[in-house]
Amino acid sequence: MADLSTNYLGLKLKNPIIIASSTLVQNLQGVREAEQAGAGAVVIRSLFEEVIREKEAKSGELYSGHPEEYEYIMSELNLEYGANYYLELIENIKSQLTVPVIASINCTTPKLWINYAKRIEMAGADALELNLSLMPMDPGKSSLDIEQEFLNIIKVARENTKLPLAVKLGPYITSLSRFANQICGSGVRSLVLFNRFYQFDIDVEKNEIIGANWYSTPAEMSLSLRWISILYKHINCELCATTGIHDSLGVIKQILAGSTAVQLASTIYLNGFSIVNTILQELNHWMDKNSYNQLDDFRGKLSLSQQKNPEHYERLQYIKALTGIEKRK
Ligand SMILES: Cc1cc2nc3c(=O)[nH]c(=O)nc-3n(C[C@H](O)[C@H](O)[C@H](O)COP(=O)(O)O)c2cc1C
Repeated sequence: MADLSTNYLGLKLKNPIIIASSTLVQNLQGVREAEQAGAGAVVIRSLFEEVIREKEAKSGELYSGHPEEYEYIMSELNLEYGANYYLELIENIKSQLTVPVIASINCTTPKLWINYAKRIEMAGADALELNLSLMPMDPGKSSLDIEQEFLNIIKVARENTKLPLAVKLGPYITSLSRFANQICGSGVRSLVLFNRFYQFDIDVEKNEIIGANWYSTPAEMSLSLRWISILYKHINCELCATTGIHDSLGVIKQILAGSTAVQLASTIYLNGFSIVNTILQELNHWMDKNSYNQLDDFRGKLSLSQQKNPEHYERLQYIKALTGIEKRK
């Protein structure tokens, strides 16, 4: 039996499979099922900016960021209760289960959750993931403006808690290598790439905007695979892959690219928690077959830092394929 353990966010996980922040792990029962399935850790569902967004969607009003409005939203939504529920959930998980618990706060501004980072730490969470996934739709904001806002949020988080911090980003970042370096220089221990936004579609019969493709497919993994292999050893951070990891093959590829751990959601919605055990068994089998005793034996082996042909990561390869110089193997 190979050793599947991995050190992530200062925690020793028994294996690299983390249940991604989602409704799968929004209550004690979900986290219990994750633990029974053998998950290495869970990231519980993000705290409450989403609740505000749901409220916005229903009322058609947008939160402007004014403190008075914040007070209003807090009391209107009884958010104190929502947050208290979250803190109680962490306490209950920590008193009843042993699986490492990473709390998650979905933030687009440091204002809404500032008090809770400390309270999450006091409730017993093992680490904190900042979900900074933002759709950059505002034409008045430059890439630098957005990056600076993210860095401000990280700074406030760093000042408010001693918990190991992870930052989860969406894919819409202009110069990721540079920005990832900045993030990792600001007290963040892990970068989680990439969050998957609700997919957008149009119902042509009803003339309505609708959600679509609620769950990812394995083909969507390519983006995080590429970026994890580019960033491995180039930034001073652990890397955790999310989106499109559905099976043991996906997990193995992400570790070969340089992932410390991986996060799964869609495959569990589609196949149930039992997929975790299947993945672990197959990972074990593959490691035995390749004479790997531990994950470090092959982690990052196919990262850019190990490549003799860095052109695989660049445009040149694309041009070759287009012009037929190099046929798809
Ligand atoms: C129903 C659902 C709820 C989710 N809720 C959250 C959340 O609260 N916070 C968060 O950071 N990500 C959330 N996600 C994103 C997942 O954590 C994950 O990053 C994404 O689904 C990509 O992984 P996958 O391809 O394995 O699904 C959610 C995903 C789904 C499908």
